[in-house]
Amino acid sequence: QVYKLKDYKPTDFVVERIDLTFELDPKETTVVSRVILHRREGVAADAPLVFDGDELTLDSLQIDGNDHDPSLYDATPDSLTIRGLPESGPFEVTVNTTLSPATNTKLMGLYRTNGVYCTQCEAEGFRRITYFYDRPDVLAVYTVTIIAGKEDAKHLLSNGNFLGGGNYDEGRHFAAWFDPHPKPSYLFALVGGDLGLVEDSFTTMSGKEVALKIYVEHGKEGRAGYAMDALKRSMKWDEEMFGREYDLDIFQIVAVSDFNMGAMENKGLNVFNDKYVLADPETATDADYANIEAIIAHEYFHNWTGNRITCRDWFQLCLKEGLTVYRDHAFSADQRSASVKRIAEIRLLKAHQFPEDAGPLAHPVRPESYKEINNFYTATVYEKGSEVVRMIRTILGAEDFRKGMDLYFERHDGDAATIEDFLACFAEASGRDLKQFALWYSQAGTPSVSVSTDWNEASKTFKVTLEQTLAPTPGQSRKALMHIPLAYGLILPDGTEFDGRLDTDDAENGVMHLTKRKQTFSFSNVPGRPVLSINRGFSAPVNIAMEQSSADLAHIARHDGDGVSRWQALNEQAMRHLVAVSKLARDGRTLPPARELADILVATGADDSLEPAFRAQALALPAESDIAREIGSNIDPEAIHTAREAVLSEVANAGLDVFARLADSAPKGAYSPDAADAGQRALAGVALAYASLAEGQPARAKTAYDSSDNMTVMSQALQVLVHQFPGSSEAEEALAGFKTRFADDPLVLDKWYSIQAMTPGAPTRERVEELLESDDFDRSNPNRMRALIGAFSAGNPTGFNAADGAGYRLLAAEVVDIDKRNPQLAARLLTAMRSWRSLEAGRQELARQALVSIREAGELSPDVGDIVDRMLAA
Ligand code: ARG
Ligand code: ZN
Repeated sequence: QVYKLKDYKPTDFVVERIDLTFELDPKETTVVSRVILHRREGVAADAPLVFDGDELTLDSLQIDGNDHDPSLYDATPDSLTIRGLPESGPFEVTVNTTLSPATNTKLMGLYRTNGVYCTQCEAEGFRRITYFYDRPDVLAVYTVTIIAGKEDAKHLLSNGNFLGGGNYDEGRHFAAWFDPHPKPSYLFALVGGDLGLVEDSFTTMSGKEVALKIYVEHGKEGRAGYAMDALKRSMKWDEEMFGREYDLDIFQIVAVSDFNMGAMENKGLNVFNDKYVLADPETATDADYANIEAIIAHEYFHNWTGNRITCRDWFQLCLKEGLTVYRDHAFSADQRSASVKRIAEIRLLKAHQFPEDAGPLAHPVRPESYKEINNFYTATVYEKGSEVVRMIRTILGAEDFRKGMDLYFERHDGDAATIEDFLACFAEASGRDLKQFALWYSQAGTPSVSVSTDWNEASKTFKVTLEQTLAPTPGQSRKALMHIPLAYGLILPDGTEFDGRLDTDDAENGVMHLTKRKQTFSFSNVPGRPVLSINRGFSAPVNIAMEQSSADLAHIARHDGDGVSRWQALNEQAMRHLVAVSKLARDGRTLPPARELADILVATGADDSLEPAFRAQALALPAESDIAREIGSNIDPEAIHTAREAVLSEVANAGLDVFARLADSAPKGAYSPDAADAGQRALAGVALAYASLAEGQPARAKTAYDSSDNMTVMSQALQVLVHQFPGSSEAEEALAGFKTRFADDPLVLDKWYSIQAMTPGAPTRERVEELLESDDFDRSNPNRMRALIGAFSAGNPTGFNAADGAGYRLLAAEVVDIDKRNPQLAARLLTAMRSWRSLEAGRQELARQALVSIREAGELSPDVGDIVDRMLAA
């Protein structure tokens, strides 16, 4: 079935309230749902009430307390149709269902994880709990009562404020919760279990005290401190930056070990993948800390952008996700180094979203049709969605952007809104026309902007000509012209920036607004030939094509006032060289030296006046997958690897003494996850990899590994040992020691699996297969599957794309197997093959065969079926 944006229609009945009672039991949980509704004005008197279901069986049905005549309703696993309902006035429908959380392997609806009952309802999981209008535009006030054995579930949690609870005889107890804020069913949550609790409190800007509670597995309480700290900082930041205050007496977070995604913003009761809550220096890396900070903030910020204002339908998913990602980015930028954070965002966007937009799974930020909504929780909806909001701010300026946000909160609080509603607030607050800009929501694909410049020495004028193109994407063969805001600067020969204004008025505040196919912007009275720094800070998510000499790039890298631009110039220089040598390697030609690049990188690394985190980013060459994306077609992953390794060696050799010094520069003493220390560790980590490469032996990494006293340094060293010296006694010894030491710590063991899975080279596949088959490997845990299968297929280009196709066959077999239990996870893992058409002919054919084998494997879930169909569609 295909769902279409243009088919939107409100429900026939309006829900007023819902009362839920759960009696928890692993295999026989009973659910009683009492819903008060009335027929919407103008709806025919004989129109039936149709509720959604998914794998449900109806135990019984009452209307206003009386058993309903069985001839007046039909219940199937996925819907409940009720006739014979009052023509006017409210009535109560009571729906009784029984569930088996312990055997719910899809991790949608109510399930058990590590002995804990928990729910995941977004997007369409509530219909696996009871028959209901499971759609985001149906808002209701919820009362929830949970009954369970005290032994089985000591803590009984749901949304909103705690109403009360107590004991029954025979060791049972109950708790009741009331959420005064009307919400859609996807924000419902319930948790029951015996958990460890960490408590704190927050006083809001109007002086209200909010109880903060984080529930984790017993024994892990000591690892929840950073998440709690991040939560308090998020609450404060949202007050200061957006004027948003929290609106319940209590805010709860529960960390669970089996979770399909990162976390979920259920009203007042966020449920998290424990990977994004738990951290201490011994078990979590700096990257883990940064992710926790970002995701805690993200889910908290959803309270306003998502919960108070929700989405009219799932086509509008980016309304809450793009905006909330934008908000969590801004938060992290404020908490850390803004330019380093932006560099990481650009890297991530290009690594995940650009390939999605360039391949068979491309879709608009706001899709217009879907078969399975779970497949649209994508980099495009989230990350590009955030970039679109960022562009609105670039176009409007900070002040009008804030005015627009204020208007949005004021006007739409309590609504299920649309992108049109959102854009109207910015148009109104700023007096600007955003019609052309709105195409960013409806047109898929990454625009390309070609840039040419013209310097006239005699007249001291400088002209910049921009031309945009947007290639066709699936279902969109013709594209309209976009509004592309490009931030720019002109760097003069002496390194200062030209401060003169453009002659034309279609540019302002250092931004050129490209709105036509081709536009020329000219500057006069420019003292000397300037170098153009364009798309500064990645103001627009586009590909820039510009002939710029490496001397000009070096000039930007040295003088640009903006750190992100300096990195962009360095990265561009590295990318150009890597693309050129990768193509030579593919054709079996000899590779020219990378002297110039090596010198710049070493000099940047050695420059102690620069932030360590920035130097680490500068030294990290574009990944093999980045180079592949840039080349775009006829990809030979082996050639890219060979070429990149050669460049790495040259850089390593050119800077051995610098790297040897830096490898030892991680801060000593007590570990702090703050950005400054993390930056130093990042620099030391890249330096360790370069130094080891130059030395060609594992001694340095082994020493670093043995003497490490935190997981960041430890995992960096382990990675160098395993990736650079696979099979060496040092690597094997470290792996064995790591496994023993963290045997009881699944989150840490995930790192052990990932590092091995990402070891370059074809032989890794056999290792992955061995690990999969070992007794302690748990195929039902999503984190574990992502750590091994996800890391191998999405993070190991040479291993996964081995020329014999065995990597593709391995993924295909696992996807088909996982699909039987957890379709969402299977579909997600399969997206690793989204760029298969850009491979060289031999691998392309093998990849195609693997995809066909999935399609022919028998009964597929809608999730995997949809992905495989789109990937194979011509
Ligand atoms: N809304 C959640 C988040 O971004 C993601 C939940 C998605 N879950 C799913 N099953 N598709 O913050
Ligand atoms: Zn979100």
